[in-house]
Amino acid sequence: MDETWIDGAISAVMAKLDAVAARTDSVFPYTTVGGKFDDWEKINPSWWTNGFWGGILWQIYHINPKQEYADLAIRTEEKLDGSLMDPYGMDHDSGFKWVPTAVAHYKIDGNEASFRRALLAAENLAGRFNPAGNYIRAWNDANDGTQAGTAIIDCMINLPLLYWAYENTKDPRFYHIAVRHADTTEKYFIREDGSAIHIVQFDAQTGEFIDSVGGQGYEKGSSWTRGQAWAIYGFALSFKHTKNEKYLDASRRVADYFISQMQNNGAVPVDFCQPRDVRREDSSAAAIAASGFLTLSDILKNIGNDFEEASKKYRDASISLLEFLYENRCNFDENCDYILENCADSYHSERGQMSLIYGDYFFLEALLKSEGKELRIW
Ligand code: GLY
Repeated sequence: MDETWIDGAISAVMAKLDAVAARTDSVFPYTTVGGKFDDWEKINPSWWTNGFWGGILWQIYHINPKQEYADLAIRTEEKLDGSLMDPYGMDHDSGFKWVPTAVAHYKIDGNEASFRRALLAAENLAGRFNPAGNYIRAWNDANDGTQAGTAIIDCMINLPLLYWAYENTKDPRFYHIAVRHADTTEKYFIREDGSAIHIVQFDAQTGEFIDSVGGQGYEKGSSWTRGQAWAIYGFALSFKHTKNEKYLDASRRVADYFISQMQNNGAVPVDFCQPRDVRREDSSAAAIAASGFLTLSDILKNIGNDFEEASKKYRDASISLLEFLYENRCNFDENCDYILENCADSYHSERGQMSLIYGDYFFLEALLKSEGKELRIW
């Protein structure tokens, strides 16, 4: 597969982000309005995507260590402290919020305050574990228990915060909670055909499986593509941290399903089960899957020669997703804050096709990873 375009793509993305960083404060963007980042500091300072602008800044700082990038990233990380003090703002998405900010910062320069933030967030995430069902509770409610039994596939990519805490404190609680949640996810979320369910409802008292619920995808029983991407990447990361082959197998099964569902036009739909004539895409799912495929490919390559072919298959899948995005879905106008077009927050969202900050984060991360240049944070 041709990879000669990647250097040019990285240069274009770096130039664009340099221009955006020069005019952007330590905001919490979710999407853009009229090409300009919105700011969730006032809308919801605990929103799950509030760490991704900081993550973008640390990734570009890793390639080009301009102090301005670090200063902005640090201010973003500090602004998240309000969320750490809010029990109703703290949910299972602590990985999304503090891995690209505090953990990234700690990896860069060993900053003590970042270590404390990440550890507090990990302690809170561990505290959401329900031993009755061996799952991490996803969301909060008004103290009526209605969300006590909800677990979601996205949580697989929050687990690296627990692995980080285990590796940095040597306290096995973090490890055991992460693997029990991963085991539950493998058992209840991955279907026979390799597709992944978005939401599962457990009985929070007994731990029994109740049902799956339709989430951000097309309908109950369908295959929301961003959920597939979280599963591919999340299980690959659980293998990376535990070496348990069950997780590698789960990542590969979902990856193979994802590849089998791709249509010839190269775009990733919002849901693999949506009607074929609906042209509704999610470029963020493509970017997350591309990054996950690369991690999976690198893992297999490092295991040994027997997996060379499989490693190449997942790398090629990643490169072709990235090339499609680069050629067809990137906005390189330096006056506009976003990069990836045609993302979707959910299939039925009234917002339709939009930009999403995490789409840009994972596109950047995957491009850098394809050349071994990313800051490894997960
Ligand atoms: N983690 C929520 C989403 O992927 O939309």
